[in-house]
Amino acid sequence: MPAKIISGKAIAQEMREELRPEIETLKAKGVTPGLAVVLVGEDPASQVYVRMKGKACEAVGMHSETVVLPAAATQDELLAVIDRLNNDAAIHGILCQLPVPDHIEEAAVLRAIRVEKDVDGFHPENVGKVASGDPAGFRPATPYGVQQMLIRSGVDTRGANAVIVGRSNIVGRPMASLLLQRGEGGDATVTVCHSRTKDLGAVTREADILIVAIGKADLVTRDMVKPGAVVIDVGVNRVDDPSKEKGYRLVGDVAFDEVSEVAAAITPVPGGVGPMTITMLLYNTVQAARQWVL
Ligand code: GUN
Repeated sequence: MPAKIISGKAIAQEMREELRPEIETLKAKGVTPGLAVVLVGEDPASQVYVRMKGKACEAVGMHSETVVLPAAATQDELLAVIDRLNNDAAIHGILCQLPVPDHIEEAAVLRAIRVEKDVDGFHPENVGKVASGDPAGFRPATPYGVQQMLIRSGVDTRGANAVIVGRSNIVGRPMASLLLQRGEGGDATVTVCHSRTKDLGAVTREADILIVAIGKADLVTRDMVKPGAVVIDVGVNRVDDPSKEKGYRLVGDVAFDEVSEVAAAITPVPGGVGPMTITMLLYNTVQAARQWVL
């Protein structure tokens, strides 16, 4: 039987509708949730993401501000922008789109964002809170979105073998923290694989829930997936395709067609995890704004 498709697009839409009344309530109390997105440079994929984040804010009635700095901007210039946003009462959430150019120290930028406005959850204080299971920490949007997809599509994580492929600070590591938490969407037995893992297929075949965030097109093939597993594909890769107007198409890290023949459920790319990431960013920004209601 072919796998059930877990539509991030549909779940994200449902969650954005749930957010609207909350935003209206905050507005009635004089607080319009506001998100600032800072982009350094002209990376085309980052430009697309930043534009989508701004549009998503406006679509749910939130305030958004986008600051674009040239690729040659200095670290001090970027820190000055963050300092201004840290002190701007109309802005409740700040994120700096990653990666930043090599001459800027990423850790210094993430540390500079005020903890209460760190809706990406990348400040070390929020990383620590999430890792230690403190619900006050902002959960990074992509793993938070994956966790919501699992909960809302009825996947029981409790006691499940969850295997994560990828150890990035943006997805793999915080994903492990969330799945280890006690309670709904947690309580899993978690394994994290990476580029040095021996016999990756032997590990992924043990997964009841397989989450792939490694950034390699079609890395996970049918033989690497246990029949009946739930497969979440976080990858977004451009592959050349002359038949497309843009000359490329987007594919995930999972060979979708063949894996969907063995998996119980699978997320597509596009339309899977992507829309959830932006939705959870909106959630975090609303959570941030709530702190300012007297
Ligand atoms: N680059 C890729 N994913 C993300 C994300 O979730 N947040 C930020 N700030 N940059 C990213």
